[in-house]
Amino acid sequence: MERDANLEAVRAVIRYLLLVLILLYLISGLGITQYQIIEPLTLGLLTKNMAFKLHDFLLVPFVVMLLAHVLFGPAMRVYSRFKKRQRQQQQ
Ligand code: HEM
Repeated sequence: MERDANLEAVRAVIRYLLLVLILLYLISGLGITQYQIIEPLTLGLLTKNMAFKLHDFLLVPFVVMLLAHVLFGPAMRVYSRFKKRQRQQQQ
């Protein structure tokens, strides 16, 4: 299967955004349960209250990026099969 460089770049961006979201999810989760450790580690930036807000906010972006990441491959396969069939019909 041929791979489009632009689509691969989009795919890589989605992948690394997902990685950042996973790390933020983890850190903010720890910021709620282990605030005695996380608060001084982040120089007081991530308070328990802030961690709670961040953790709550992250659900939607995380689910959206996860779905984009997981469905990109299958969507590309369906699309390229469709294009291949279209090319065959034109010949
Ligand atoms: C909750 C976290 C994650 C889940 C559930 C997940 C799930 C998946 C699934 C189902 C596929 C196969 C998609 C397909 O059929 O094409 C896949 C592919 C892949 N994932 Fe993830 N993933 C996660 C996080 C990540 C992260 C954080 C990275 C890297 C920063 C990553 C890198 C990759 C790569 C390199 C592929 C292969 C894509 C390709 O075919 O070129 N994944 N992942």
